[in-house]
Amino acid sequence: MFPRVLFEPLAVFKAGLPEEYPIGTVSERWKQEERVWIVHEPDGFYALSAICTHLGCTPNWLNAEDKFKCPCHGSGFRRTGLNFEGPAPRPLERVKIALGDDGQLVIDKGVQFRFERGDWTRPGAFLKLKV
Ligand code: FES
Repeated sequence: MFPRVLFEPLAVFKAGLPEEYPIGTVSERWKQEERVWIVHEPDGFYALSAICTHLGCTPNWLNAEDKFKCPCHGSGFRRTGLNFEGPAPRPLERVKIALGDDGQLVIDKGVQFRFERGDWTRPGAFLKLKV
């Protein structure tokens, strides 16, 4: 089993320097434009697709409740992306995150990682980086 790869050049975008993302935060900087959240944990980064796995709406990040909540039918997801309430049948997908030669985060939405397939432990699903 390998992550599904779609060859879409426009799926790749630069997301700025890692230092621009405070540790412990879920960044909504790219949600509108790219439908991606960037999460900065103490040991690194991952990028979550902002597409609900129920019927494709865009969930909201509720910082006070530390969860994503979909406005369409009420699915809830932990900050990891794991689903825990509502009709969503599976976790949010992660997309590839890497560090570019210029030091910027590079997100590739053409490479998706699905938890239920064991993809989240694969290279690209998590960028180990302490900043
Ligand atoms: S589309 Fe998100 S809960 Fe239905």
